[in-house]
Amino acid sequence: MKDFRREIAVAIAAQEKIKEVGLDEASVYEILEVPADEKMGDYAFPCFRLAKAFKKAPNAIAEKLAGLITVPAAEKVENVAAYINFYLDRGEVAAEVLKTVLSEGDGFGSSLLGKGKTAIVEYSSPNIAKPFHIGHIRSTVIGSAIGNIMKFLGYDVTRINHLGDYGTQFGKLIVAYRRYGSKEEVEAEPIKTLLKYYVEFHKLAEDDPTLEVEARETFSKLEQGAEEEYELWKWFREESLKEFTVVYEMLGIEFDSYAGESFYSDKMDRVIDELEEKNLLQESDGAMIVDLEEYDLGKALIKKSDGSTLYITRDIAAAIYRKETYDFYKNLYIVASQQDLHFKQWIKIVELMGYDWAADCVHIPFGLVRLENGAMQTRTGNVVFLEDVLRGAVEKTREIIIEKAVNTDDVEEMSKTVGIGAVIFQELHNNRIKDYTFSWDKVLNFEGETGPYVQYSHARAASLLKRASEDGIVPSMEGLASASKYLTSDSSFALVKALFNLPETIEEAGLKYEPSILTRHIVDIAQAFNGFYHEEHIFALDAKERDAKLLLVKCAKQALANSLGLLGVGAPERM
Ligand code: ARG
Repeated sequence: MKDFRREIAVAIAAQEKIKEVGLDEASVYEILEVPADEKMGDYAFPCFRLAKAFKKAPNAIAEKLAGLITVPAAEKVENVAAYINFYLDRGEVAAEVLKTVLSEGDGFGSSLLGKGKTAIVEYSSPNIAKPFHIGHIRSTVIGSAIGNIMKFLGYDVTRINHLGDYGTQFGKLIVAYRRYGSKEEVEAEPIKTLLKYYVEFHKLAEDDPTLEVEARETFSKLEQGAEEEYELWKWFREESLKEFTVVYEMLGIEFDSYAGESFYSDKMDRVIDELEEKNLLQESDGAMIVDLEEYDLGKALIKKSDGSTLYITRDIAAAIYRKETYDFYKNLYIVASQQDLHFKQWIKIVELMGYDWAADCVHIPFGLVRLENGAMQTRTGNVVFLEDVLRGAVEKTREIIIEKAVNTDDVEEMSKTVGIGAVIFQELHNNRIKDYTFSWDKVLNFEGETGPYVQYSHARAASLLKRASEDGIVPSMEGLASASKYLTSDSSFALVKALFNLPETIEEAGLKYEPSILTRHIVDIAQAFNGFYHEEHIFALDAKERDAKLLLVKCAKQALANSLGLLGVGAPERM
């Protein structure tokens, strides 16, 4: 896409006066603003900082410069107060957008920014034998979207699910299972049953502290490779994974690797040895720690007194393994903000070990999800299972589809696309770092800034194009430039600009690891499209006008489909 902002920057930087103050094209480009009020033009150049050098009031400078500058793509350059406002030639922008979107198609919005660079995106990472609750939806959905966006930006993306499949809780589970577990019960409903054992274990352990000791010893045995313990652990893992897979399939989410915590169990000694060699380890009450007090990060426990390693040790091993295996450019972790300290600690340790790539390991935190009836907690069993949430969404959507007599011949498929799409969309619409309360009403509200609203807009565009093709209309790519003169009304231009801004919005969402930036822009596109639809007579009598408008509809549909795809939300043809 043509960079109109650049064109304006070049024209401004070419002014003698501007050169004299030492502003080059790049800095002018940075100074240019996009006015909040579109009446003030498409770009604005504030003149405040020129006052000193010019020894003149900013307003007077703006007035003078506005008269001197001409930009080929701008139909008007105007001074308002201390600003020079640039109004792009609407027809020219429309022509540029149509040309770009139609020729790039599915690739519209993509770039080569990350070419040749590997990005590891770690997300989801649920704990085996514990529920995949709605708290995990954040990591799963945000991480997957970040992976998609990075890939679209040209990065070589590797998706990892760092399963929580190791640690003392497996000692607890094995103890609990041996005391009162039943194989049939586990097989029938693995995670719910294992969770029940886990909750029960904690209740019993309150009266009988020896249980905790027994659990620790059992985990130690597992770490040392004891066969019976290993078999049980492996079985818990497999059964749990089956359940997780159901959820991933419902969400349409995939991974390249399931190398979880247990994968690193044989890579611990090396970490411990290396830490020792580099004089980072200290003994404390029989345990091994790294003292990070001087960085305000407390003490990191690396190895317990009973010899078992910890979550943090496995993260250090995993980072080293990933660097050696993938030679990543970025190693991203989409993990709750509750784990801030954990990430700060181990990334600091890796840095102290002398690995300069520690700086490329990035924790991408997100806030909490609360339930309307209070917080969720694994230990007491007050959880909402993600699978139930997704099934609920599909079911409720089915009711709405039937009630509203929505246009579809496959109610099942439509309920899935819309119901699950609604859950994903609302999740990605929230700024990731903010806490939010999960509410059924909000998720399934079909009006407002929601997934179904955007999906409906896409389907509306599809049906317009379908009607055109049924009428034998094939809008031609030829004469795009002349066609664009029909796309200069306020509502057309609002849509043109929303499409024009999509590529840089995707880039911003990628560089900030913030899918909500894209999600909100998708709503803008849908709203602009609906404004255009309501205000313009698309099937105009003039064939050229009609074709131009249909081409813009086609572009809007393409942009919605591409961006919904990045979020992992379906784009139905009918609705
Ligand atoms: N399994 C952990 C949990 O559910 C998240 C793992 C995060 N990833 C990591 N590399 N530490 O809390």
